[in-house]
Amino acid sequence: MAEAVDLRGAVSDAPPLDPYALRADFPILSTTTSHGKPLVYLDSAATSQKPRVVIDAVDRFYRDYNANVHRGIYEIGERATAAYEAARASVARFIGAQDDHEIVFTRNATEAINLVAYSWGRRNVGRGDAIVLTEMEHHANLVPWQLLVQEVDGDLEFIPITDDGILRLDVFEVLLRLRPRLVAFTHVSNTLGTITPVREMVEMAHAAGALVLVDGAQAVPHLPVDVAELGCDFYVFSGHKVLAPMGSGALWARRELLESMPPFLAGGEMIREVHLRRSEFNEIPWKFEAGTPDVAAAIGLGAAADYLMGIGMDRVRVHEAELTRYALDRLATVPGITLYGPPADRRSGVVPFNIEGVHPHDVAQVLDRSGVCVRAGHHCTMPLHERLDLAATARASFNVYSTREDIDALVDGLGEVVRIFGA
Ligand SMILES: Cc1ncc(COP(=O)(O)O)c(C=O)c1O
Repeated sequence: MAEAVDLRGAVSDAPPLDPYALRADFPILSTTTSHGKPLVYLDSAATSQKPRVVIDAVDRFYRDYNANVHRGIYEIGERATAAYEAARASVARFIGAQDDHEIVFTRNATEAINLVAYSWGRRNVGRGDAIVLTEMEHHANLVPWQLLVQEVDGDLEFIPITDDGILRLDVFEVLLRLRPRLVAFTHVSNTLGTITPVREMVEMAHAAGALVLVDGAQAVPHLPVDVAELGCDFYVFSGHKVLAPMGSGALWARRELLESMPPFLAGGEMIREVHLRRSEFNEIPWKFEAGTPDVAAAIGLGAAADYLMGIGMDRVRVHEAELTRYALDRLATVPGITLYGPPADRRSGVVPFNIEGVHPHDVAQVLDRSGVCVRAGHHCTMPLHERLDLAATARASFNVYSTREDIDALVDGLGEVVRIFGA
């Protein structure tokens, strides 16, 4: 099965990123845990750590110019509005959006997907219409579509995966004969790390008349993303996984699409004129930003985007790809381990595993004593775990600040797990 993975810039002439130098930007990485061990943070797929520029941007907002946006005709109000809109411009540049107004700030990827499901979905998906997803979606890109098709009497179909987590595009081609209204899939699997061939899938979906939503929650922090080049219709991500504050996130969609969609949430900010019995709505993107937004979080997201653009996402990708190869090699030496997911060249910095005879929660708990943080459980992908016949997995995941020493500490910690549980 030919599968072209979108890895723009994976080969770069730029000097390699120096994670040791970058670590100095992240205050939490020089702390120790209550067990007296240096923090070894290998759970960046759950949430990333934050650099000082982001923490300072949030702090500055609250200390120096805390005011509501698009309202105050006074200096700090105007400053808040300017910083909020400048953050939107940074986010647009970061993901290759041609028009800043195509960026809608949301609380996270989940809210962005719900926005599309409620606004676009309720208007464009009807009885008998199909939506195509994949077997490896995060619950955030599954449950909103379940609710939609239950409501309109539509249908969900799923692109299956191979045992090592590669999408079966041959089956996708067959599913497209159903003429689905929408195809929605993750750019990078949060559990297996699989990088999906977005451009190829977009071309296939468009040829069948479907729109495409890409869940970029695990891609934006790790790969160069250019929505114009990917050609999709909707792209969503969460700020907190991309070095930005919790409570920040974005939906990108083409202008014509956003303009054609009805509001999702209603209230202040999203209106132009209100009468007792009817209202006129604001222009995009504000039509989709009802109520007072998390201004500080959005400003922090802009700072994170600027910080990563300063490093260069191509260098981030090269660093994490190298680290992932190292992790796969080192982890393979642990007795009783099973590693899941695709080969290194098709995955981002996510490595799920199990140690024979040991529950992943016990693995995580023993690792915690060495200061090593990994996630254990179903990672909000219960159907994927069912497909792989797994109750749960442990998962190590990386970011710009991750190092080979982090992985060595994980491997040493797993040695302790094996010693304790006699695996
Ligand atoms: C692929 C993917 N999509 C969506 C989400 C949901 O993100 P959030 O909880 O920030 O909305 C996650 C979070 O782990 C994810 O990994």
